[in-house]
Amino acid sequence: EKAGYKHFMLKEINEQPRAVRDTTLGRVSLDSGQVFLPDLKLSQQDFQNATSMTIAACGTSWHAGLAGKFMIERLARLPVDVDYASEYRYRDPIPGSLGLLITQSGETADTIAAQAEMISKGTPTLAICNVVGSAITRKAQGVITTNAGPEIGVASTKAFTAQLTALFTLALYMGQQRGHVSSEQSKHYVDELAKIPLKLEDVLRSVDDQCANLAKTFSTANDFLFLGRGIHYPIALEGALKLKEISYIHAEGYPAGEMKHGPNALIDETLPVVCIATKDPADPTSVLKYEKTLSNIQEVTARSGRVIAIATEGDEEIGNLVEAVIHIPAAPELLLPILEVVPLQLLAYHIAVRRGCDVDQPRNLAKSVTVE
Ligand code: M6R
Repeated sequence: EKAGYKHFMLKEINEQPRAVRDTTLGRVSLDSGQVFLPDLKLSQQDFQNATSMTIAACGTSWHAGLAGKFMIERLARLPVDVDYASEYRYRDPIPGSLGLLITQSGETADTIAAQAEMISKGTPTLAICNVVGSAITRKAQGVITTNAGPEIGVASTKAFTAQLTALFTLALYMGQQRGHVSSEQSKHYVDELAKIPLKLEDVLRSVDDQCANLAKTFSTANDFLFLGRGIHYPIALEGALKLKEISYIHAEGYPAGEMKHGPNALIDETLPVVCIATKDPADPTSVLKYEKTLSNIQEVTARSGRVIAIATEGDEEIGNLVEAVIHIPAAPELLLPILEVVPLQLLAYHIAVRRGCDVDQPRNLAKSVTVE
């Protein structure tokens, strides 16, 4: 049932091209750039009248929500708040016009409670979920199913990239409903989305050996830092969570620009720092962020930190600044997260295997957390 793979996690990492393809299939038209999400059951008026959105989720799904905020704000021009589901209902929250729950299982107790809170305050809820018929999908007004297929490994991988895909289609759909994306832009985005599965296959082929080699060098580290800016910051958080949960190495994700406000004090020659330094050359804000990230990298190396950079194909100069570079294919800024998380998953995986950890069943964790 592991299809020849040593662990479910590795099998599921390798299933990501298919998971992303199946989450896109039938929902976008390459000809017109239009997105179809009939199961949302909200009218164009509902989307046009909305003034804000609240996302609630836990763990990896919360990281997807943080990335989704960038997508929805950029494409649909709707302000988005992202909450930990476990915090949400304990402060008499003020929900936005629309609620969105993101959950692989659809059975996470905290996320169920956040949804109940939204519904009790009259907010329609949407769900991005991998399990049809689960508790959260039954209560939601509208659903986008992530067609990742069953995820067995406790560490979420393919469900995450499928969530990012679903969020991108939702953001584009809302942008179309609210009149913020032209049909030309839509066609471009749909076209780029359709290329992601092949690019994922590329990444899987090209980075696995490199991640296994880096694991040899870094598997004995006591701490790891993961840095990113903008939409890449949630991916830094996700990289840190993957490493923590399966290798038991302490790891933190941080917004790269915040380092000088405290965490720089942690850096020494023993600290591996994974920096997400990708860019979309066609997007000026992405390039600006990239340049700032380069100066953050220099701040780390000046303090003898050991930097592993995730960079875009063709960026060779970055190699002069850091100890190792993992290249991923170019893509629009909002789609890069789907590609850049893969080397982070593989790095965590190979480090955990080297440390002899139980990758699929880490200590103290359950696949779905059905108690609050
Ligand atoms: O099923 P859900 O997406 O609601 O689960 C949320 C978290 O429990 C889950 O993402 C958890 O953080 C994973 N083990 C992370 O790999």
